[in-house]
Amino acid sequence: MQNFELYNPVRVIFGNGESKDVGRHVSKLGKKALIVSYEKHDFFEELLQNIKASLAKNGIGYVEYYKVQANPLLCHVREAVELCKTELVDFCIGVGGGSVMDSTKAIAAGVLYKDDLWKMFISRHDREVATAPTESLPTVMIPTLPATSSEMNCIAVVTNDQTTEKAYVMTPVLYPTVSVVDPSLTCSLPAYQTAVGAVDAMSHVLEAYLNGDQNSPLQDRLHEGILVTIMSELRAILKDPTDVTHRANMQWAATLAWNGYIQSGLNAPTPMHQMGHVLSARYNTPHGVTLAIFIDSYFRYTCTLNAEREARFALLGEKVFGLVRQGRTDKAVAAETVNCFINFMDEVGVPHTLTAAKIPHEDIEAIADDIVAHGCDADGNLPSLPKIGRDGIVKILNMAK
Ligand SMILES: [Fe+2]
Repeated sequence: MQNFELYNPVRVIFGNGESKDVGRHVSKLGKKALIVSYEKHDFFEELLQNIKASLAKNGIGYVEYYKVQANPLLCHVREAVELCKTELVDFCIGVGGGSVMDSTKAIAAGVLYKDDLWKMFISRHDREVATAPTESLPTVMIPTLPATSSEMNCIAVVTNDQTTEKAYVMTPVLYPTVSVVDPSLTCSLPAYQTAVGAVDAMSHVLEAYLNGDQNSPLQDRLHEGILVTIMSELRAILKDPTDVTHRANMQWAATLAWNGYIQSGLNAPTPMHQMGHVLSARYNTPHGVTLAIFIDSYFRYTCTLNAEREARFALLGEKVFGLVRQGRTDKAVAAETVNCFINFMDEVGVPHTLTAAKIPHEDIEAIADDIVAHGCDADGNLPSLPKIGRDGIVKILNMAK
């Protein structure tokens, strides 16, 4: 366990039906809100009507910005910031999944940001000029997809549509002011989106478990518990999508997976996300699918790299899948652990290869170049345990075919 500072000020209102009362929950934040959602929001029409009615009932005016898309774009953040300034908006409400919530954070901070908005986002290329925002309008999140935990963390990821670079900013002012987490909103989520979101949440746990401080047993047990919960609840949801109890358990597990609690003291890098962001930026691949690709290939590449990796993957398999050693070596159990994850992704219908994601194999060298440029340290290595150079990245991508 390493030294850490934990600060998470998000007021979470969790429960079925709470989104219908959002106006009351946010009534102290101001008199006019920007509601942010997807370009295709037919799916949320009833929810949006309920939110608008609740705001009106509590004397809160609103303007709407419905242009966000998966892998959200900087151009839309810019446009919404101008709308906020013109309409003198007091706070922003994000209604959707991670793309909407991340955009909402960037918009709310962007309204008060004095420089070009791209400079908010820390990335490999812009690191020298990036300056994280120091103030933001209040934000309200109403998540409709358990996945990113954006409703309870201070991270926003956006793609620069001019350079196709996907970059993030993580800074305390981006913590949502209020998150109304209503699991009943997820009961009509299609199986595919539910499963892809769950794999993203699993990846958040796995990144820290595998790459963070390796002497934090309490954090380990919390990670394992969240993984077991996500997998068992996903299986139950796929059998009965309308069971709100399973939806609630999934939602809370996904929120806890990346809200900072279980990452505290681990100081973990996120190699699968660094590589995954490149695939999303180049091919608009869904975020969860990019993580599935690397849960497969990165795991197979790293699980037997050294004795410590073998022991870690073997422990993970014992705790999460109940694997028994029966006299076998760490190496053998570690390999079985990875197969269990791959089998699970097949079981729940999440594609986990470049081929399945329609990413051309002939682009592997170019993808590796982008990963080195955008996801690696200044020494050209991917932060991971152990660090991985360009040769290793190319091997992983070839194993991902
Ligand atoms: Fe993620």
